Amino acid sequence: MAALPETLRSALDEELGKYPQNRLTQSVERLSTRYRENNPASAPILSSEVDIAAYAGYRMPATYAAVHAVLAEAALRAPGFAPRTQMDVGGGTGAAIWAAADVWPSLEESTVVEQVPGAIALGRRLAGNAGDKAVRDSTWRRGLIDPAAPAPEADLVTLSYVLGELPEARRADTVRWLSAKAGMLVLIEPGTPAGYERIVEARDQLVELGLSLVAPCPHEGACPIPRGKDWCHFAARLPRTGLHRQLKSGTLGFEDEKFSYVVASRTAPERAEARILRHPAKRKGMVGLSLCAGAGLTETIVTKRHGAAYRAARDAEWGDAWPDQSTVD
Ligand SMILES: C[S@@+](CC[C@H](N)C(=O)[O-])C[C@H]1O[C@@H](n2cnc3c(N)ncnc32)[C@H](O)[C@@H]1O
Repeated sequence: MAALPETLRSALDEELGKYPQNRLTQSVERLSTRYRENNPASAPILSSEVDIAAYAGYRMPATYAAVHAVLAEAALRAPGFAPRTQMDVGGGTGAAIWAAADVWPSLEESTVVEQVPGAIALGRRLAGNAGDKAVRDSTWRRGLIDPAAPAPEADLVTLSYVLGELPEARRADTVRWLSAKAGMLVLIEPGTPAGYERIVEARDQLVELGLSLVAPCPHEGACPIPRGKDWCHFAARLPRTGLHRQLKSGTLGFEDEKFSYVVASRTAPERAEARILRHPAKRKGMVGLSLCAGAGLTETIVTKRHGAAYRAARDAEWGDAWPDQSTVD
């Protein structure tokens, strides 16, 4: 489970404590409805201090978990990548800089670009508590995504849960702009059919632009997922804090954040041979894997007679790379 760093969790609790519970709950309801509509935003969605606090309370733990899962996978695929600089665009309250600093201790300079001043103010206050220097000393800039401006220049450029807020006609320009000077570019969207559509379009564009795909795709050919029928997405499990539980009026101690993503780089990664697209079906003596591989989508059964591959399959999770296809027939 990807829990928020303790310093962030307690700073967040303190911030949320400034507002009456019912105001936070109202904001969560309004924001959840708005995000579910899945329409581009003509004005900033986070429009008041209490909305921003509510966003941080109910979404930041989840976006942190998703970004952390994606970056951890990117680090596995690109073991030589040790970013020194990060630019997080549309960074909100900064979930992605906390996640990146946890995955890559090499980070020295993190910059968040965000349009909403209140999100910057809260994000900056939260970051002030961080153990990681890159987060604690992060730079927060008020700015709009503007493909006519100089492109973000950093070893790592992240855009998480933002593409869907942009008008459709601006997304391709934004992806081109983000990729122009990024060492590695990470795009994350909600794990919904619409989120996947935005990611797969960006993925195809990044391949056309000459970048290498780091994850999740094991190849750069056309995505084999049948469009309109299925969507490539993954899940990150996160613990619900007490306050998070109240805000989401749920009883479970955890939740699964679903996300779609693509990571692309200027340098060729160690590509996975295949990617596990569903929870592995683990039965006595056998594991069924739904895989995306160079040859397309495949279903593979790994049994005890496959020895090491079977042991690996027992440990495998949805979203993991599956390196050992050659030993399985
Ligand atoms: C759903 S929030 C995601 C925040 C953060 N990236 C995360 O993962 O938690 C979307 C953020 O993108 C920002 N945003 C949307 N459109 C933007 C634009 N055109 N320029 C700059 N920021 C933008 C919003 O203000 C908001 O903070």
